[in-house]
Amino acid sequence: MAIKLSRPAERGRTASAADIPRPQALKAGNKTPDDRLELAVRPRRNRRAEWSRRMVREHVLTTDDLIWPLFLVDGRKIRAPVASMPDVERLSVDEAVRAAERAAKLTIPCLALFPYTDPGLRDEAGAEALNPDNLVCRAIRAIKKEVPDIGVLCDVALDPYTSHGHDGLLRDGVILNDETVAVLARQALVQAEAGCDIIAPSDMMDGRIGAIRAGLDAAGFTDVQIMAYAAKYASVFYGPFRDAVGSSVTLTGDKRTYQMDPANSDEALREVELDVAEGADMIMVKPGLPYLDILHRVKATFGMPTFAYQVSGEYAMIMAAAGHGWLDGEKAMLESLVAFKRAGADGVLTYFAQRVAEKLKKDGV
Ligand code: PBG
Repeated sequence: MAIKLSRPAERGRTASAADIPRPQALKAGNKTPDDRLELAVRPRRNRRAEWSRRMVREHVLTTDDLIWPLFLVDGRKIRAPVASMPDVERLSVDEAVRAAERAAKLTIPCLALFPYTDPGLRDEAGAEALNPDNLVCRAIRAIKKEVPDIGVLCDVALDPYTSHGHDGLLRDGVILNDETVAVLARQALVQAEAGCDIIAPSDMMDGRIGAIRAGLDAAGFTDVQIMAYAAKYASVFYGPFRDAVGSSVTLTGDKRTYQMDPANSDEALREVELDVAEGADMIMVKPGLPYLDILHRVKATFGMPTFAYQVSGEYAMIMAAAGHGWLDGEKAMLESLVAFKRAGADGVLTYFAQRVAEKLKKDGV
């Protein structure tokens, strides 16, 4: 519909000179009623006051949307800063339990646990991943004991445990698929036995969701959920995370033979389709903001519970700019998180989880 800039010609009357738009009507600052734009539709009406903006708001961020990733480290009473992620710390298990209590108070439904494995415990095969008493398993048990009603999600992948920093087994420069999947299925079982609620395979091997589901079911863990990192891209935005788990020093080469090419979109749908067919309960798209188009397509196509990961590099960019006073960090946090909701996310893994939950509670959401 064309927008009329002047009075429309009356119906049934042929246009006359009076109907021709007068140029002065368009001049800025001309306030006489006759010179008003003839607009039936003025989208700004709904935006004129906060109460009205709230009435027409389409998406609302709540604490239910948050999954809070925590980094773990061995020891007691340790809160060790991560240089590339301001305000994020590696926590010893006792401190992680305190964080879980805090999360529960803030009604954050779920935590995601990531271990910084002692370099002495890393090897070619990532054997520590299968140790039922490894750091992540100890943390799961401690959290589930003290804060039983919070959900615990764990990555399944070998990168925090391997001496080469890859998510899978490496032989002659090649990441082995099927052999890796067998190990991942065992890793998932070890975590489920420790009490993990949601297994989140982040490795991007082919066929791992089906193998993990079968392994869990055979062991009686039919209720343990799987959130598949289904569309996970080979992204530079994981850099600070790799600092946090200590794999940026170990990683040889890159992950492009298993993580997706950032140039691809249809391929993400094929990946998601496979993971859904193999038994995924929930889907994740990762990274977040640079991949909102993928998130939107995935949600629209499959209608699955779909989560976005606002990854470490996205967090670091906002924090760095805020730290310089170049943008308002809190507003950037809120705007970025509601963008995920708008694109179709049911929830977001975000390092801002605690901070945004505090803000939402304070503001009465
Ligand atoms: C490990 C894993 C990574 C992230 C989550 N799980 C890093 C990687 O794949 O190299 C990244 C999370 C982040 O950057 O915040 N497979």
